[in-house]
Amino acid sequence: MKLKSKLQLYSTLWMILLLIGANTAAYLLFHQFASQSEIERVQSQAESAAETIQTAEGMEPIISDVLRAFVPANGMIRVIDRDDSILHTVTKETRFSDLPFRYHAGEEAELFQSEAGETYAIIHRPVIWDNGAVVTLQVTEHLDAFETNMDRLMLVLFASSLIILLPTLIGGRLLGEVFLRPIRALVRTMNEVQTTGEWKKIDLHRKSKDEIYEMGAAFNHMIRRLSDNFEKQKHFVSDASHELRTPLSIIDSYARLLKRWGAKKPDVLEESLEAIVTETDRMKKISDQLLTLARSEEAEALEITSFDIASVCKQTVHSFSTSFQRTITLDAPEKEVIIEGDESKVKQALYILLDNAVKYTEQDIHVRLKEEGHHILLSVQDEGEGIPDSDQKHIFDRFYRVDKARSRSTGGSGLGLPIAKQLIRLHNGDVTLDSKPGQGSTFTIRLPVVQS
Ligand SMILES: Nc1ncnc2c1ncn2[C@@H]1O[C@H](COP(=O)(O)OP(=O)(O)OP(=O)(O)O)[C@@H](O)[C@H]1O
Ligand SMILES: [Mg+2]
Repeated sequence: MKLKSKLQLYSTLWMILLLIGANTAAYLLFHQFASQSEIERVQSQAESAAETIQTAEGMEPIISDVLRAFVPANGMIRVIDRDDSILHTVTKETRFSDLPFRYHAGEEAELFQSEAGETYAIIHRPVIWDNGAVVTLQVTEHLDAFETNMDRLMLVLFASSLIILLPTLIGGRLLGEVFLRPIRALVRTMNEVQTTGEWKKIDLHRKSKDEIYEMGAAFNHMIRRLSDNFEKQKHFVSDASHELRTPLSIIDSYARLLKRWGAKKPDVLEESLEAIVTETDRMKKISDQLLTLARSEEAEALEITSFDIASVCKQTVHSFSTSFQRTITLDAPEKEVIIEGDESKVKQALYILLDNAVKYTEQDIHVRLKEEGHHILLSVQDEGEGIPDSDQKHIFDRFYRVDKARSRSTGGSGLGLPIAKQLIRLHNGDVTLDSKPGQGSTFTIRLPVVQS
């Protein structure tokens, strides 16, 4: 069933239930009050008849005439003896004689429903008869006006219910239409995205920030992110294949050279083998980096432990300055600086920054570690030529290199910084750059002390 029909059905059913409840209560209350006042009226009639009978002694011969004076136009008076026999019946219509009778010791008033569905007020009252015996005076009246009123009330309630239900039905439909229009637009757009493959958004006209508007906004936000990611992936794949094609074509041309001259010209053989080995190394490095980058997208890949970042810095600085024969200063607290994280991943990020500083500068390098509130700041500063302003915002993009020709000669593929950033982001931290051309660059890793 469609949402609109459901909404309409449920709102109507609910309204019907409410109306049935309210109308039944109104009907029963009115029935109660009206029948009470009818009974009281017949009761006072019976009272007058009883008083007359009691005060008039020796009336036995004309009792029927006396009773006739009190008989209701639409009823009957009976005098019932102690042995349940009828002493007198006075009525204008014989149909009342079928009504039940019984001697009652006390006073009693009731509303009686005949099998034919007619309503009677029946009053029983004890009176002292001529012979001194106590008998029952029964006054009965057919409440036809009361019946008519109750029937009318039923009709009025039924008609008013219908009048209320009609707008409810239409209202439910309109309401459904209003609420479902944006949902339908959403479904339509989703289907279009699925069939056409285009990243479509929904037009959000309304300014009211209701839940449906929020849903549409969330959908648009999701589509924007998906399309951004899709674009990034596309670029990434094309960049990656482009990067891999360059060493492949170099290998290809040297291999052909070898095939033609290799055996005859030893210098060609030497140069070709050298180039092939270099380019193969390069390709291996790129594919390893791509793999690292792909893996670093998953936070589950982290092996979180508590470790001393200060000692990691000491070891790394020592091994870099020894193997590259460079001056690298370290400014770190003497005590342990314990943080939570994946030690190998944090170390890898520091390696990437130091590797760049060693590769792209010739002057001294300074590594600094300090604590700042719930974070640690780990910076790698060089005194090289710096990074131009226009390149700074792209520096963390995949395959981005400032000077392609220079980077190529130093063997970079432009994947180091994006990997470092991704690894640190997995730890809820960030890597930032502060560089002034001609004055060197400072890359800073900011990490929370405790993983949240
Ligand atoms: N300390 C630095 N000084 C000057 N330029 C830098 C520095 N660090 C990075 N760069 C520039 O940023 C570019 C991107 O660096 P990144 O580490 O991402 O890639 P790469 O070093 O070229 O290659 P890879 O690290 O993948 O071997 C480098 O090519 C270089 O041009
Ligand atoms: Mg690098």
